[in-house]
Amino acid sequence: MTMAELLAELKPMSIVQDLEFASELLKAAKSKKVIEFGAGAGGWILTMNHLVPDVTFIAVENFSIAFGDDWPKTKASWLLYVHNKAFAVGNDLSVTIMDKDVTEMKFKGEYDAVRFDCLTNMKDITKLIDKVMPHTSETSLFFVDDISPNTCPGRFMAFMEKSLKNELLPVWFGHKEGAWCKNINLRAELQKALCQRFGEKGMRWLEINDSVYPIYLGNDWNKR
Ligand SMILES: C[S@@+](CC[C@H](N)C(=O)[O-])C[C@H]1O[C@@H](n2cnc3c(N)ncnc32)[C@H](O)[C@@H]1O
Repeated sequence: MTMAELLAELKPMSIVQDLEFASELLKAAKSKKVIEFGAGAGGWILTMNHLVPDVTFIAVENFSIAFGDDWPKTKASWLLYVHNKAFAVGNDLSVTIMDKDVTEMKFKGEYDAVRFDCLTNMKDITKLIDKVMPHTSETSLFFVDDISPNTCPGRFMAFMEKSLKNELLPVWFGHKEGAWCKNINLRAELQKALCQRFGEKGMRWLEINDSVYPIYLGNDWNKR
């Protein structure tokens, strides 16, 4: 199955390059338990499930929002929908769905990766980051969709503030998605993995005050 056929079937709300980078990072960090805030119809989860082996997903969606007209509107119909989609592309799928507003989440256990694909208000996003942080490890990844300032400024500001405070380290900025981690050694390993797969040209140095941060830019800048 080609990537184009896969995306036509699973319909993630991401562009192909960002999906490829995200899957590479999940593989490099050996992430096994991934939670997504704002799972929609499961497009990103299904795509990562196809590209990265042996991951268990937790999907959080507030079904009362009814975001997509033709998307499942209950937990039961969501599970049927995603298992059918996974089967259609030849995969098993290990997933739990929570019908919950993310602002009311109570976390248990630990997640290897967290993906933010809802909330626009900077304060709400910061609160959610702070709440989930104790449920992540030194090797956890933080993916953020619509991270560019002209798409979702609140998400952009919240994650930039965390970067300035050194609470989260930027690893990769893609077309409309980015990734952070907590550990400087992990960041180096992840960026090495990106360089090996996508080339050295994406590496840049980001200067903030007196510090210089390595960052991988996975967008068209790579080609310049
Ligand atoms: C962009 S869509 C998700 C797309 C999906 N993650 C993908 O990549 O294919 C954002 C989703 O977040 C959900 N959402 C928005 N605010 C939410 C909240 N406070 N709690 C839980 N889900 C929320 C919406 O209902 C919508 O389904």
